[in-house]
Amino acid sequence: MLWSCILSRINYIVSYIVIANFQIYIVINIFGLSAAKLLKASGLDPVVLEARDRVGGRTFTVQNKEAKWVDLGGAYIGPTQNRILRLAKEYGIKTYKVNEQENLVHYVNGKSYPFKGSLPPMWNPIALMDFNNLFRTMDKMGEEIPRDAPWRAPHAEEWDKMTMQELFEKLCWTRTARRFATLFVNVNVTSEPHEVSALWFLWYVKQCGGTMRIFSTTNGGQERKFVGGANQVSQCMARELGDRVKLQSPVYRIDQTGDMVVVETVDKQTYKAKYVIVATPPALNLKMHFNPELPPLRNQLINRVPMGSVIKCMVYYRENFWRKKGYCGSMVIEEEGAPIGLTLDDTKPDGTVPCIMGLVQSFKQLLSLHLLLRRICEIYSKVLGTDEALHPVHYEEKNWCEEEYSGGCYTAYFPPGILTQFGRVLREPVGKLYFAGTETATEWSGYMEGAVQAGERAAREVMCAMGKLQPNQIWQPEPENDVREVLMHQITSWLLIKKNEQSVEKHSEVSRHESKTLFTINDTVKKIIL
Ligand SMILES: Cc1cc2nc3c(=O)[nH]c(=O)nc-3n(C[C@H](O)[C@H](O)[C@H](O)COP(=O)(O)OP(=O)(O)OC[C@H]3O[C@@H](n4cnc5c(N)ncnc54)[C@H](O)[C@@H]3O)c2cc1C
Ligand SMILES: *[C@@H]1O[C@H](CO)[C@@H](O)[C@H](O)[C@H]1NC(C)=O
Ligand SMILES: *[C@@H]1O[C@H](CO)[C@@H](O)[C@H](O)[C@H]1NC(C)=O
Repeated sequence: MLWSCILSRINYIVSYIVIANFQIYIVINIFGLSAAKLLKASGLDPVVLEARDRVGGRTFTVQNKEAKWVDLGGAYIGPTQNRILRLAKEYGIKTYKVNEQENLVHYVNGKSYPFKGSLPPMWNPIALMDFNNLFRTMDKMGEEIPRDAPWRAPHAEEWDKMTMQELFEKLCWTRTARRFATLFVNVNVTSEPHEVSALWFLWYVKQCGGTMRIFSTTNGGQERKFVGGANQVSQCMARELGDRVKLQSPVYRIDQTGDMVVVETVDKQTYKAKYVIVATPPALNLKMHFNPELPPLRNQLINRVPMGSVIKCMVYYRENFWRKKGYCGSMVIEEEGAPIGLTLDDTKPDGTVPCIMGLVQSFKQLLSLHLLLRRICEIYSKVLGTDEALHPVHYEEKNWCEEEYSGGCYTAYFPPGILTQFGRVLREPVGKLYFAGTETATEWSGYMEGAVQAGERAAREVMCAMGKLQPNQIWQPEPENDVREVLMHQITSWLLIKKNEQSVEKHSEVSRHESKTLFTINDTVKKIIL
């Protein structure tokens, strides 16, 4: 049976502190029907305390005349992210494919190499072997790591003592592979190979489904975006919850000494609840005062898990000149001092508002906004081989390092030694406090999908504590068929539309396999979809 609970969604949405109020029950929302309706019908009354004046946290959609709408935080979704896709489907939020029809381009040693597929081709056979070996080995090591308990991997201690930099030095023979591997860490976890534990990074890639999944646009984590922006999911959930969502309510004190948990916000409001779900990045718990104090392991954990650093930069142009030149807008840029390592086309699905999205690791770029934009346009112009890139018509950026209630983005990373020592208390309840947030997920942790998984799991933990669920019901796999089929259906129709055009799908093993599966969808399944 599919239990999808309100609390969880709340807490993804806004991910703050969710308080399940005393007299009231927690609602179990079967098949994800309207949360508000169910809340009312079942008499469950959670309260959501959100520090900011908006919901959405690390997702943030801005609307204006120039950009129409733009995601300045989390944005991309893809196959196997079934929970977030389920929520979006429930609210009727549509997805579209990120443009990858024309060539991608790999810029290295000052030259542009157009390519198709997920990975840039390597012309040098030694580099190619090195490359393949690196990714195969990473996936192999990943196989040994339990998604829900990486600290129990057979080589956990050994790998956790190592940084990714050290692992790359062991595994890679060529500079080419090492340089690309560095970019991989930079872009995927917005930190440096020398900062992160090898055990943690290998686990991270594994729980996303392996190197190809995390890498790819088509068939991977960046395949799609939400029409109208990712924030809609949170906004829809908040709308359902109505005035149970309290904005501008930063929690600073949590007192568990009495029968009820007492939660106080900076504006001196007090809330009493039977249970509390804390759904912030772990390090942000440092801003809270706990009575009694947190147990030693938890207290140390929250002192040791820093957030990544990223600025998301959107450059808008009058014309989509890159597509005319045969480029899709995806650039993999390897150049010393370049502000951007990876870009994707962010033009609207109807072809309007031509835009290139780029990610900057911000601690490297303490530049003024103006200078940063210039540097970005200069590198785009070199990579795409045209001065047109130098004439943006609009620019949007968001520096997540300055966000008090995120601490950085996309997610927390584990420096060496932390995961094996403190990882096991990530999700361990403290009295009546339960922990959610994407950092506590076991599938697509670091992503919106992970946030939903974690929220729903924490909600079920609370229900279990209330005697409404059995412990073995806490962890629920997301039914594969439900959303996967929808996604496949969408891909199918996309393939049909595009069937005369050269399809990127043809270029990768994984895709070819999946496209074959697509066409086997039978009428029964189609009916469920429609
Ligand atoms: C630039 C960027 C790009 C990203 N790209 C992607 C992507 O393409 N795909 C993807 O899936 N994910 C992406 N992510 C990550 C994704 O946005 C996050 O994984 C997800 O939003 C995490 O949700 P959460 O609910 O766990 O945490 P958050 O969204 O951080 O929510 C935590 C909430 O708690 C609130 N809060 C904090 N402290 C307090 C307090 N003391 N009291 C009350 N409230 C408090 C915060 O205001 C916030 O709203 C990206 C993130 C960024 C910034
Ligand atoms: C991970 O890095 C690779 C290589 O730089 C890139 O192609 C891919 O889009 C990145 N994925 C994410 C989720 O950032
Ligand atoms: C279609 O798929 C469903 C679900 O997988 C299955 O139960 C059904 O038997 C299939 N029908 C046909 C005609 O193949």
